[in-house]
Amino acid sequence: MADNAPSKPRVYILDDEIVTVRRLVQALAKDGYEVEGFISAGEAMSRVAAHPPEVLVTDVRLNDADGMEILQRVTILAPGTKVILMTGYAAVDHAVQAMKAGAFHYLAKPFKLEELRNTISDALRYPGKPDDAADLSPVDHFAGIIGRSPAMQEIFKTIRQIAPLNCNVLIQGESGTGKELVAKALHGVSGRAQHPFIPFNCGAFSEDLVANELFGHEKGAFTGAVSTKLGLLEAANNGTIFLDEVGEMPIPMQIKLLRVIQERTLLRVGGVAPISINVRLIAATNRDIEKMIAAGEFRQDLFYRLKVVMINIPPLRKRREDIPLLVEHFVTLVTTQFGKPMVPEIAPDFLEALSSYTFPGNVRELQNIVERAVALSREPVLTGRDLPPDIFFAGIQPPVPEKNSSHLKALEHERITEVYRSTGFNQTETARLLGISRTTLWRRLKELNLFSEK
Ligand SMILES: Nc1ncnc2c1ncn2[C@@H]1O[C@H](COP(=O)(O)OP(=O)(O)O)[C@@H](O)[C@H]1O
Ligand SMILES: [Mg+2]
Repeated sequence: MADNAPSKPRVYILDDEIVTVRRLVQALAKDGYEVEGFISAGEAMSRVAAHPPEVLVTDVRLNDADGMEILQRVTILAPGTKVILMTGYAAVDHAVQAMKAGAFHYLAKPFKLEELRNTISDALRYPGKPDDAADLSPVDHFAGIIGRSPAMQEIFKTIRQIAPLNCNVLIQGESGTGKELVAKALHGVSGRAQHPFIPFNCGAFSEDLVANELFGHEKGAFTGAVSTKLGLLEAANNGTIFLDEVGEMPIPMQIKLLRVIQERTLLRVGGVAPISINVRLIAATNRDIEKMIAAGEFRQDLFYRLKVVMINIPPLRKRREDIPLLVEHFVTLVTTQFGKPMVPEIAPDFLEALSSYTFPGNVRELQNIVERAVALSREPVLTGRDLPPDIFFAGIQPPVPEKNSSHLKALEHERITEVYRSTGFNQTETARLLGISRTTLWRRLKELNLFSEK
């Protein structure tokens, strides 16, 4: 077996009975699997996140989690991992529920070792099993970032390549596209992960305060500086500083930052002795820095220093294939966060409406939409009705006016749509604002395909 050791399938066993764990680990190791045993769900989940196994065999009743919770977490942390559940009592409906939630199989205890062996080898043969060369095959998540679009795959690859390096990185993308998440991933998979990751929003402070926050000050540097204060750059030593909205940084501060990058030292405000620092710098912006340079609002020399590697995150509307994955991810995440017992299913009209929506607020907006839907829904299925009406209707285009329909009619339709949207699709309010009866409004809305039974 030694010659093909690297391709040994990985199997994790999780059960709070240490005797069971030991017995299964020993038996499966003899079968040639790379086996690891866990008695705590927390420990097992960290390991799954760091090194996803092909198969996780877990008890459904643990001290610190139950099987359904484990399933949900594995779906997020390692969607390629097959989960086999073991239960101490014959709970058929639990089994059905588990299979629906994505468990590969369900074994009722006591079971014969042979039964488990067969189930594991079935799981390994089942299509969708992670490729042996997992590094080369596309994955739909990486370090907590979800995405199957080519653009996101490329970003995963870049993160893997540059995380271990100390080079500066500039992340560009609209608000809510995941810039901070990518920065955290870069930090989290780098050798700096044990040290701090410190985000700093360059747009949130006045010029003086930016220097004070980033560089700190010496005692007595100014009135009120009663003691020495460490700046964030020093606090992030050996770790990573994330300069968010770097385009908002005032020019004098840009010059100071450039000096820090070049000399790898800083002066606290009011200080005279340079202090060496070892910090990785990741900057982010939603602005077009090159335009800002042309307008004299951003220093070109700093730009070149920051963008040693540039990561561009496209807006969500340009990578729609990521939407279903993100919806699923957030539904599971939010259900768990809200402490709701069951992850709701997602109806086709819910996904369809979201798939044609433009998401000006990108992934952050999608997350908010899902949070709202999960919070308000009382049904086991999320449908289009759980979406805000403007999003539900976004996919429905008003009909093109017929040739002989008057210009006036078109204007009227435009005005009605506008008011109807602005009232949050409140018919009574719209009719009142337009000074028409509800029946007339109702007829117009039907013409516009904007009428809903809700
Ligand atoms: N690809 C993604 N996968 C999972 N969550 C994401 C993704 N992109 C963004 N998010 C989530 O959306 C929210 C906004 O992301 P953030 O990194 O703060 O965006 P930005 O910094 O670009 O404004 C966060 O809660 C983040 O976790
Ligand atoms: Mg941000």
